[in-house]
Amino acid sequence: MDLSVELCGVKFSNPFVLSAGPPTDDVKMIRRAFEAGWAGAILKTTSVESEVVELVYPMMAGLDFEDKKLIGLGNIDLISEHHIDEVEGRVAELKKEFPNNVVGASIMGAKKEDWQTLVRRLEAAGVDLIECSFSCPQGSMGEKPGAMVAQDPQLTKEVAGWVKAAAKRVPVFIKITPMVADVVEVGRAVKESGADGITASNTIPSLMGINLDTFEPYPSVDGKSSYSGLSGAAIKPITLHIIAELAKNVGLPISGTGGATTWQDVVEFMLVGATNVQFCTAVMRNGHRIIDDLKDGLTNYLDDKGMSGPSELIGQTLPKIVTHPELSREYKVVAEVNRKTCVKDDLCYITCRDAGHEAIELDKERLPVLDEEKCVGCGLCVAICPVWDCVKLKRVEKKEKK
Ligand SMILES: Cc1cc2nc3c(=O)[nH]c(=O)nc-3n(C[C@H](O)[C@H](O)[C@H](O)COP(=O)(O)O)c2cc1C
Repeated sequence: MDLSVELCGVKFSNPFVLSAGPPTDDVKMIRRAFEAGWAGAILKTTSVESEVVELVYPMMAGLDFEDKKLIGLGNIDLISEHHIDEVEGRVAELKKEFPNNVVGASIMGAKKEDWQTLVRRLEAAGVDLIECSFSCPQGSMGEKPGAMVAQDPQLTKEVAGWVKAAAKRVPVFIKITPMVADVVEVGRAVKESGADGITASNTIPSLMGINLDTFEPYPSVDGKSSYSGLSGAAIKPITLHIIAELAKNVGLPISGTGGATTWQDVVEFMLVGATNVQFCTAVMRNGHRIIDDLKDGLTNYLDDKGMSGPSELIGQTLPKIVTHPELSREYKVVAEVNRKTCVKDDLCYITCRDAGHEAIELDKERLPVLDEEKCVGCGLCVAICPVWDCVKLKRVEKKEKK
């Protein structure tokens, strides 16, 4: 199976790319990733030599849920400590060694001259694409330090326009934030700037938690913290929403990032409009080796679907995303419990009794019995049941119109 995709004229041997972050702040690590099978890497965001980047430690805190570690990761990292002089050397070295892998660079500047200098130097070094970080939760540099450029459509258009004007050879991607009231407005500003594509999206400003003994927020830096950027599996639904909105309403090519962990996630990102998918937290959690599962899983899936390549997936779900009033009120579904696979944990009974429609009782064997009259088919029991396929929704007669 040929897994290649093309994004703004750049060919990726598969849709799996390392996003700007700790896994791309070191040539040795990127080399190992390329050898393992990753199609490309966006080097961690760099800046001009005069920019002072002072990191603090610790810079990360995990989000755990019950016994599951790291369903999300918060960070107060900044851009790379490695300035453009080092990064241009890294780009040249990687391109020489891996001409068929995509080497992208992420940039952030304080003023027009800096943004344009970064573009010119990276193009000269041989980079394949430029990504502009308009969405670091710790804020951007320049006129509005501490604020994200991508939260201001006007500023987005202006700065993206500077970068696009300087880029003569490679496509320009604008990395936006999900933390806006109307992402379509920002997407349209990117389009009006002339930039080639959107990276959607980024981490989400968050407060990771608080130490109940000391009252210190996490990650605690000598007793204090600032807001983190949340990444990882927990943010995937937010990313899917952002990509879908942009794909439906803006029409620029999209590179997806935010919460992808498995090949199934990649399929979902592509179904709502992404052309490729960037990974950061999943690699920080599980290492480069996840690429084997990603490639095998996607290959088998496309084979099963009779598709010739991943590009066939792009945007297929978009016509099925509609407004709430457009959803059908014409039919009714009810829950159906498979008594053979039920593990008698009572969860469907308890949640339906206390937060649903009191439609489930337990019989003498402690197996759930459904009252179809009371059941409205809300789906809570399906969501709560730990056994795959034990509780399902089945379609019954058409709903009587009230
Ligand atoms: C510790 C850390 C540092 C990051 N640094 C950068 C950065 O320098 N530039 C950037 O554009 N994104 C940065 N990101 C964001 C990632 O590139 C990615 O967009 C985000 O983490 C969401 O994807 P994920 O859920 O796969 O991690 C960073 C993320 C993490 C976790």
